[in-house]
Amino acid sequence: MSDKDISQLSEEDAAEELKQLAATIAAANTAYHTHDAPEISDADFDALKARNLAIEARFPELKRSDSPSDHVGAAPSEAFAKITHAVRMLSLSNAFDDADVAEFDARIRRYLGLADDAPLAFTAEPKIDGLSLSLRYEEGKLVQAATRGDGEVGENVTANALTIDDIPATVEGAPDVMEIRGEVYMSHADFDALNARQADAGAKTFANPRNAAAGSLRQLDAAITRSRPLRFFAYSWGELSEPLAETQMSAIERMAHLGFQTNVRTQLCTGVTEMLDHYRSIEQARATLGYDIDGVVYKVDDLALQGRLGFRSTTPRWATAHKFPAELAWTRLEAIDIQVGRTGALSPVARLTPITVGGVVVSNATLHNEDYIAGKDSKGQPIRDGKDIRVGDWVQVYRAGDVIPKVADVDLSKRPEDAVPYQFPTICPECGSEAIREEGDSVRRCTGGLSCPAQAVERLKHFVSRAAFDIEGLGSKQVEQFYRDGWVAEPADIFTLQERYGEGIQQLKNREGWGDKSANNLFQAIEEKRNIPFARVLFALGIRHVGEQASTLIARTYGEWDAFLAAMDGASEHAGEAWDGLLSIDGVGEVMARSLVTAFAQPQERQSIDRLTAHLAIESAERPETDGSPVAGKTVVFTGSLEKMTRAEAKARAEAMGAIVSGSVSAITDLVVAGPGAGS
Ligand code: IVH
Repeated sequence: MSDKDISQLSEEDAAEELKQLAATIAAANTAYHTHDAPEISDADFDALKARNLAIEARFPELKRSDSPSDHVGAAPSEAFAKITHAVRMLSLSNAFDDADVAEFDARIRRYLGLADDAPLAFTAEPKIDGLSLSLRYEEGKLVQAATRGDGEVGENVTANALTIDDIPATVEGAPDVMEIRGEVYMSHADFDALNARQADAGAKTFANPRNAAAGSLRQLDAAITRSRPLRFFAYSWGELSEPLAETQMSAIERMAHLGFQTNVRTQLCTGVTEMLDHYRSIEQARATLGYDIDGVVYKVDDLALQGRLGFRSTTPRWATAHKFPAELAWTRLEAIDIQVGRTGALSPVARLTPITVGGVVVSNATLHNEDYIAGKDSKGQPIRDGKDIRVGDWVQVYRAGDVIPKVADVDLSKRPEDAVPYQFPTICPECGSEAIREEGDSVRRCTGGLSCPAQAVERLKHFVSRAAFDIEGLGSKQVEQFYRDGWVAEPADIFTLQERYGEGIQQLKNREGWGDKSANNLFQAIEEKRNIPFARVLFALGIRHVGEQASTLIARTYGEWDAFLAAMDGASEHAGEAWDGLLSIDGVGEVMARSLVTAFAQPQERQSIDRLTAHLAIESAERPETDGSPVAGKTVVFTGSLEKMTRAEAKARAEAMGAIVSGSVSAITDLVVAGPGAGS
């Protein structure tokens, strides 16, 4: 590589060098990716790419159509090493209006048993629209930076994080182990300039600052990240060898002293009124901040109370995000399509004339269900003043955060004369079975069960999803393809794929997108999932009302799959000891219990489950880390009034110690905690 000073290069020299760099880097790429035989070290490779980029930055007009800057050797998600977070990175619950914020405060008071007028302070700060990053410092040195990923496992982007000015490489006076968490973002001005540069260079431009920030941070080549103006706000933390402070507010001040950027609009509020006032002042300032925010985050200020409040499965109880109102736009409804889901639900989808809503082009939106289209709520009361929605109408579309866009309103003055009320189908558009509405259900469902192709495919997609079997290389796209070609009709078929087509990896490999390596990897990944935890199997079955949390609860209660099966068989009449045992699980209501028992009692369904489990070694349910806990594995019932904490807190604490908390005494109860006023 030439070592000439780039600022001294003539245009001619630069063009010549870019040409050579393109050839050298392409050859190195081929050696590495195609022949698995690298010819130069990673460091040398990075240096070549960095030099190429630096020359392009000085002579943008000389950038080649085959520029190495536009190519990465492999998908980033595979290229970055995975990092398991020492403390999970959570998301936030949402509040959408003032009443939700009041309820957030009330919920916390109820949980902690605090009177309405007892002091309870919160911090309020902007919710930055970027991507979260966890920075680990050991003895004052940044040793690791990881993206959030799925909250448990993120990607190692340390080299890239070190190129960000707001992220100090070393800190003084910090705890020996300190994980600082915050948001990486791009300012509006930097975003505009970057897009202008990209456009000039004929390279891809970004839809919004958040995408630009994410794309820039997740670059294989740290030199590219360095050339992108990223920023970082610190607002939270993960593992700490000693606490940063006693309150959220002083922890933020401490982070600022350590050299991190913290948001100046963070304010301590003594109650809901002040929180809402601060929300409005941030909302007013929104357009002038110079970076994107999408709401205000409230956090309980007292860290000891945060500790008592703890977490739900994916969100802390002590914080919430108060979102700004959704963004709106009007467009024409071109058609209504019906999608059939995993549980047979017929969901109407609006096909719209594409329109930009909050920076994103929207062409589909949900219409919820047939009552919604007809202008009624689930109790038959009018919504939108009773206006129905028709194909051809002008409709108002809105987006709130990342959720699916919705149709909110309709403009009757623009209704075409020939528009007719929408007839919701009573026949499944996918399989022709009757689609019926059960009493009290707002949703019309296909009665075709597993013989309905749409239901079968959706179930398979659910089965392989991340929280279920999570088979690497087998995603929605692949199961759809396999189903269409008759290779996989139900979950059990996944586990006989190799038996049936293995010899002929050939057959798989002749398909689009499959080679020797990916076919082998797939079979390997399937093999690995034969040993699988109870809760995942139950969740993967996709039984209506039985979500991830309920599956975990049920698995913990029964421990072994066979014990659970016996209980399902015993409960098939919706009565008796097994039925009562199921209902006594705190978190399993009658509706879920019925759905569960019915799924196991229905012959076609049951055979399909048994065919699947025959291929599996189902692991007994794990209990939480509870070394030495005397209540681990015990089923506990709290009854009567509790004096030192609320029922919710007692339940959460007992569960954290490995107990299973049950709502009523039954044959499986081990311990009863009886407070004053308990029955006999
Ligand atoms: S606190 C355990 N504070 O919002 C709570 N999050 O929707 C940790 N975010 O994943 C989050 N600004 O990426 C917190 N001031 C702020 C934030 C913030 C943006 C992001 C963060 C989080 C997501 C949740």
